[in-house]
Amino acid sequence: MRLCASEEVAEGQAIECPDPRDLEGGTLIVLRSGGRVRAYLNVCPHAGRPLNWAPGRFLYAHGQLVCAAHGASFQPDDGICIGGPCRGDSLRLVWTREEDGVVWLEDAA
Ligand code: FES
Repeated sequence: MRLCASEEVAEGQAIECPDPRDLEGGTLIVLRSGGRVRAYLNVCPHAGRPLNWAPGRFLYAHGQLVCAAHGASFQPDDGICIGGPCRGDSLRLVWTREEDGVVWLEDAA
C-alpha cells in the first residue's frame, strides 16, 4: 500500500499520513532521518494521544520527535522515548519500503 511520495518526506521532516489499514481514521508519522524513511503509529505510548500539534504538523527538530501533548521526546531512528513521562517506552514501528520514489507500507497485516 502506498503511503506517500518520497519527495514529501524531506530529511529531518515528519509528515502525517492516513493509515490505510485503520478504518477508524488513525494516522502514521512518516519521517526521514539519516536519509532513511521510518513510519510509526501516531499514538503516543504515554496517554495514547497523537503526537502532532496541528493536522500534519509535528515537533521534530534537533534529532528528536516531541509529543505535543506532554513533551515526551523520541529518537527518530527507533522510536524509543528518551525523555518525558514515558521514558523507555517506544512508538510502534510500522514497516515501510522506499522504492521508485514512493514510500510503501509493508506491514499489511
Ligand atoms: S500523550 Fe504524549 S507525552 Fe503525553
